[in-house]
Amino acid sequence: MINSNFIPQMEPWFGIEEKQAMTEYMDEGGWLTEFKRTQEFEQRIAEYTGAKHCVVVNNGTISLTLMAMAAGIKAADEVIIPNYTMIATPNSVKMFGAVPVFVDVEPETLCMDVVLAEKAITSKTKAILFVNANGRNPKAGIDAFVALAQKYNLVLLEDAAQSLGSRFPGGRHQGTIGLAGSFSFSAPKIISTGQGGAIVTNDDGVAHRLKRLKDFGRSGGGNDIHDSIGFNFKFTEMQAVIGNEQMKKLPWRVERKKEMYRLYKKFLSDMSQVSFFEQDLENTTPWFIDVLVEDRDKLLAYLKENGVGSRMMYPPINKQEAYQIHGEHKVSNLVGEKGLWLPSAAQLTDDQIAEICKTISSYYKK
Ligand SMILES: Cc1ncc(COP(=O)(O)O)c(C=O)c1O
Repeated sequence: MINSNFIPQMEPWFGIEEKQAMTEYMDEGGWLTEFKRTQEFEQRIAEYTGAKHCVVVNNGTISLTLMAMAAGIKAADEVIIPNYTMIATPNSVKMFGAVPVFVDVEPETLCMDVVLAEKAITSKTKAILFVNANGRNPKAGIDAFVALAQKYNLVLLEDAAQSLGSRFPGGRHQGTIGLAGSFSFSAPKIISTGQGGAIVTNDDGVAHRLKRLKDFGRSGGGNDIHDSIGFNFKFTEMQAVIGNEQMKKLPWRVERKKEMYRLYKKFLSDMSQVSFFEQDLENTTPWFIDVLVEDRDKLLAYLKENGVGSRMMYPPINKQEAYQIHGEHKVSNLVGEKGLWLPSAAQLTDDQIAEICKTISSYYKK
């Protein structure tokens, strides 16, 4: 629960259920390493997303790396990535020497712009790594990406780290439309295991390679016979114990996030200085309350002084010192200048949301 007067931009939410489940597990004398609880967690995610396979790993960055490796992407291959995303998206393929190629995003949804994606394709392009930004669907439709990947014989992968609880129109869960999709359970996500990631896929070969990549390339459970090169990116039962309880809470949180988004929109509707993106609340679940605001940096400082946490949205990746790639990407530049995440934890009350919006409005009326 939020128990100080300061309202954080985000915080995870664990309760008595997680505590009891953890005590029960510890009383059983388990090894803590991944076993039955982890299999149950994978099963829950597979069922929830409708995917044939789910493989969990230690975080949502490694899940991207392993997903790309299992999809056959290699060093020097180019991967098309949105210029607005968490830095983990491009870094995950940099890790094994692939080359992220950045394209701008749609202004309405912050998902990759499909026209710009096509322009970025070269003879070295191997994959499109689509990011479901804040659980949104691209305005162009995900089918446009499926068609683009087919046209150029590219692999379509989804970074659905922010998307648990979000579906495409028609009902398929985000992360299940391409060859594979990746989720994160880091502390700010809709459900959390502290750290954690998952890959979902309907492809038996990808699932097989993922299991080996995360477990030293072992040919079977627990043996020391290795039929491929692999590493150690395994989960733990402690994370799975928490994750299983969190999954039970997911349906409620999905509804609450939608209600929160509606409330924020209502309370801020007459403020010309604050604008929302297009969020289809029938199919998708906003992970964070993301807005473009005038005078962003000063508003952020004012909110902080008045007990409200907020956070600047991701700056354009090509301009991050870590990348320094020449080019101007209009939409990601705009988000870098005006994008702000407002308090988004599912445990926020309606009164707190009203209070936050009042504080925002008092800043502009100063
Ligand atoms: C779009 C996206 N991709 C990847 C990640 C990385 O996930 P993790 O923090 O679990 O490594 C995040 C985390 O916020 C994310 O938002």
